[in-house]
Amino acid sequence: MSAILMDGKMVSQKIREGVKTRAAAVKAKGVIPCLAVVLVGDDSASLSYVNSKEKALTEAGMESRDIRLPSSTNEAELFSIVADLNKDEKVHGILVQSPLPKHIDEEKTINEIDPQKDVDCFHPLSVGNMILCKPGFLPCTPHGVLVLLKEYKVPISGAHAVVVGRSNIVGRPIAHLLSRRDNNATVTLCHTGTRSLADYTKEADILIVAARSPGFIKPEMVKEGAAVIDVGINRVPDSSFKKGYRVCGDVDPTVAEKAGFYTPVPGGVGPMTIAMLLQNVVEAAEKKVK
Ligand code: GUN
Repeated sequence: MSAILMDGKMVSQKIREGVKTRAAAVKAKGVIPCLAVVLVGDDSASLSYVNSKEKALTEAGMESRDIRLPSSTNEAELFSIVADLNKDEKVHGILVQSPLPKHIDEEKTINEIDPQKDVDCFHPLSVGNMILCKPGFLPCTPHGVLVLLKEYKVPISGAHAVVVGRSNIVGRPIAHLLSRRDNNATVTLCHTGTRSLADYTKEADILIVAARSPGFIKPEMVKEGAAVIDVGINRVPDSSFKKGYRVCGDVDPTVAEKAGFYTPVPGGVGPMTIAMLLQNVVEAAEKKVK
């Protein structure tokens, strides 16, 4: 049996069309939805991510306020820029791309962002609201994974979902969202301290992998027919590629022969993250015109 490919590119395109319509409605009321995208330093992967986000914003008829800062920027300078963006009525969302240079405290930086503009859902208040199932933005990658599962009608209620990776951006929030009453999955959160990881992954009806390790999940670790969601984006040196590297996920591609559903890398979860970000930005702008 060959798995069904979950086409994040196609699903995200549909969502982006919906966002474009919503953005046009906001613009008709005199407000242009705007996301400020702050990048500190010149990390090439981060630069490529923010470029994709900015291009997607423009395509959806929204404004992207691109702020590029040298890696020599200090914490006080960055906080002052964030404070200005917080005050700026024309800016509806603020995204500070991580990772930040080592001399800038990421946690403190996130705390400086007005939660009303926290479209990443990284601020402690946003995270608290999410965990308590209160209204507010949902984090983009976890939300994108959920939408993808629902789009392909993967049964979630009652399913055993195993999440590999406990990051604040992906693993922990996806575990929370899946266990919400309205999603109703039973969740196991695995991490680097998990003994006999395969004992857990083999039990998963839904396996979500954000392990930051290329090709980490092998077919023998997966249950036949499981939905396998690969959140990994790894650059692996490969001289046969023009850029000198290829992009691959945390799941070995041969898992596709055993799984029921799988997400490709690239073209699976990545585009969904961007689509959900755009959705949060238009939602932030809608609140301003209501
Ligand atoms: N770095 C990697 N993913 C993300 C993301 O979704 N948001 C931000 N701000 N930084 C990231």
